[in-house]
Parts: sequence; structure tokens; C-alpha cells
Amino acid sequence: MFAAPAIQLAGVGKLFSAEAGGSVTALSGVDLKVATGEFVALIGPSGCGKSTILRLVAGLDRPSDGSVTVHGGDPEALSRAHKLGFAFQDAALLPWLDVRNNIAMPFRLAGVDQNMDRVAALIDLVGLAGFERARPDELSGGMRQRVAIARALVLEPEVLLLDEPFGALDAVTRRQMNLELQRIWSAAGTTTLLVTHAVDEALFLADRVLVMSPRPGHIVEAVTVPFGRPRGPALLREAAFHALEDRLTEALIPDVTDQPERIQPIA
Ligand SMILES: Nc1ncnc2c1ncn2[C@@H]1O[C@H](COP(=O)(O)OP(=O)(O)O)[C@@H](O)[C@H]1O
Ligand SMILES: [Mg+2]
Repeated sequence: MFAAPAIQLAGVGKLFSAEAGGSVTALSGVDLKVATGEFVALIGPSGCGKSTILRLVAGLDRPSDGSVTVHGGDPEALSRAHKLGFAFQDAALLPWLDVRNNIAMPFRLAGVDQNMDRVAALIDLVGLAGFERARPDELSGGMRQRVAIARALVLEPEVLLLDEPFGALDAVTRRQMNLELQRIWSAAGTTTLLVTHAVDEALFLADRVLVMSPRPGHIVEAVTVPFGRPRGPALLREAAFHALEDRLTEALIPDVTDQPERIQPIA
């Protein structure tokens, strides 16, 4: 028997009602599967529905059409069982709590005993040893993102959803965080769906990269990333990496020849 995919979207559409009284079709005909333990990156132009997909998988919203299942069941069930980890672009830490207590917060929200050994192990894993007692305003942006990722992992989620977690960071810190995330994922083996607008980040981290169309978003291309693991900074200098990066970047740009009305004559 085949195990159900960790995440599956089949024929998913999503309509939002717009302020003017009409509606916005955010997603249309989205088919997507993520296998257990797989790392999938989702890239696409701004507003194509990437965050909407994560919200559907997290059970925070429901599709207008089609189905979303996590481990073959209702996403809300996984969320209720606290088996889902979620980290956003904005780390959203509680400013009055130190690193330890921010990471331990999901234990309190889940109403279970705080496993401070697990918190300590995660602080090591994300490279924050020595900062246990620091508050968010004493940390750099990259350190705050590490806290957010540790917090997302603390309940040992079966599925990790990351929505542009490094979008607010400078290029050097982002690269360091990519290495950290690869290390964490390799150690924890958690099924991961990462939304990013950085093609190099997607290619560096993922087993597969899914490319979305402009709104209404759907998957237009799926690329299996051919690079072995562990991946190091040297990969970013390889010609094969750049060739694939260029190809995916082009896939993100809508074909202007299909939309001649958008080309403005130069006056
Ligand atoms: N709660 C909402 N109500 C109305 N429109 C929404 C809502 N959430 C998202 N949208 C619209 O759906 C589209 C996709 O949004 P989103 O998933 O945030 O895109 P992305 O994350 O790819 O930038 C956008 O046009 C956005 O304005
Ligand atoms: Mg988004």
C-alpha cells in the first residue's frame, strides 16, 4: 500500500470577496503533492496565491473548490494535534519573553508540559547557545528568524510551513540562514513546504521547486532539483546551478508576447 502524500492539493480553487463587492480568484486548479520528508519550495510572482496555499494547508482557511489533505486527513486535525509548525516572514516573537520562553510558547498554547530539554536542544540546533536569556530586541534579524524556526519545530511537527521566512534579511544573513535551515531539516527530516520569491534559495534548499503562474495561481512547472546533499556555498558558484536559476527565473516572468497590450510604446 502506498502511504498518502504528506500534503495534497487536488483541483484547488480559492475565491475571495473583494471590497468593491466582486470577487478575486486567488487560486484556480492547483494540484500539488508533497511526500513525507520531502522539502518542496513554492515560487511565483507576488499575489499569485502562495500564502493562500500555506493558509489552506495550515487549516486556517478553506478552499472554494477541490480538496486539501494533510496525511490523508483534514488539515485542521493536524493543526489541532499541534503537529504543524508555521513560520512567517515577520518572526512575530513575544517581545517580553526571552529566547527560551518564546521557543517554549507552543507547549503552553498546546496545554502540555514544557519540555525545556527539547528547548535547549533546539537552541543548540539553530545556533543560539548563549542567547537563552536574551529578549527579541537584543537579537539581530537573523537571530530572531532562528528563534521563530526553533519555535515552529518545538512540538516536533510532522509538517513545517515557511512563508518567506528570510524575506526581510540581508543577502549575507539569508545565505547563512539557508545553510542553517538545510542543516536543521537534514537533522529533523520534517516535511517542509517553503514559500520564497528567491529562486536561488528555492534551488539551494528544496528537493523539488514548484513554479506558480500569476493570479489566479496554479502550478505551471515542477522541477526536481538535481544537486546532491549536503549542499554548500560552492554550489552557488556552479554553472549548472546558475543555468537552472536562469531557467526558473524566466519561468516566473509572464510571456509578454501573449500580452501585447502591456507593452507601452516609448514616447
Ligand atoms: N483574506 C483575503 N481577502 C481578500 N483577498 C485576499 C485575501 N487573502 C489574499 N487575497 C488576495 O489573493 C491573492 C493572493 O494572495 P497571497 O496568497 O497573499 O499571494 P502571495 O503570497 O503569492 O503574494 C492576492 O490578490 C490577494 O490580494
Ligand atoms: Mg505571500
